[in-house]
Amino acid sequence: MEKFNIAIDGPAGAGKSTVARLVARALGFVYIDTGAMYRAVTWKALQIGIAPERKDELVRMAAGLRIELHPGEDGQQVVLDGQDVTGLIRSSEVNRNVSAVAAVPDIRALLVAKQQEMAKAGGVVMDGRDIGTHVLPNAELKIFLTASVKERAERRYLEMKAKGEDVTLEQLEREIAERDRLDEQREASPLVRAHDAVLVDTSGMTVPQVVDRILELSNTAA
Ligand code: C5P
Repeated sequence: MEKFNIAIDGPAGAGKSTVARLVARALGFVYIDTGAMYRAVTWKALQIGIAPERKDELVRMAAGLRIELHPGEDGQQVVLDGQDVTGLIRSSEVNRNVSAVAAVPDIRALLVAKQQEMAKAGGVVMDGRDIGTHVLPNAELKIFLTASVKERAERRYLEMKAKGEDVTLEQLEREIAERDRLDEQREASPLVRAHDAVLVDTSGMTVPQVVDRILELSNTAA
């Protein structure tokens, strides 16, 4: 099969990473979670005390980071300057700050260049917010994955509870709605459905149903 690229965009908690990982596995493609890269930069900034408003310092710091994404058994492993930060970048604190960091144009430029390099040879399933619109505008298949805020918050709640995080459903609904608002309204590459992306609303759908739908669509893209 030709090594084409699949771009999956959508709001927080729509199931992008779970679905993208399974689609990649079924096709023998590489899964790339771009949100993890913005999270890794945010985590580092919080660690060393750089507030998202201090943009110059943030960009200087991010430019010197070595971010590696390794395919793992249950997802992607994220290694930052040699340290495994896979779990650390999923905290509530990172959730609350990542959209502000991702709104800085020079941070985006740095990470987008890395993402384009990773997809150069084809055969990737990349998920994020701007993949179909900016990172891979020529991707053979573009999906815009979404679901209601309520359902997305419920999914995140179960995920975080399972990891022992102390959160409430209401708190997650608020966080997700706020992250949607920031991601949709920012000036640099806002979250928007590419005109040629297929809309898949996953409310009420199971993960295997969503994966099958995308695999079906990828048959026509191949
Ligand atoms: O996908 P995930 O929820 O892990 O992404 C975390 C945050 O990173 C998003 O809320 C968004 O602010 C930012 N992001 C982005 N562009 C991407 C991927 C993620 O701005 N391509």
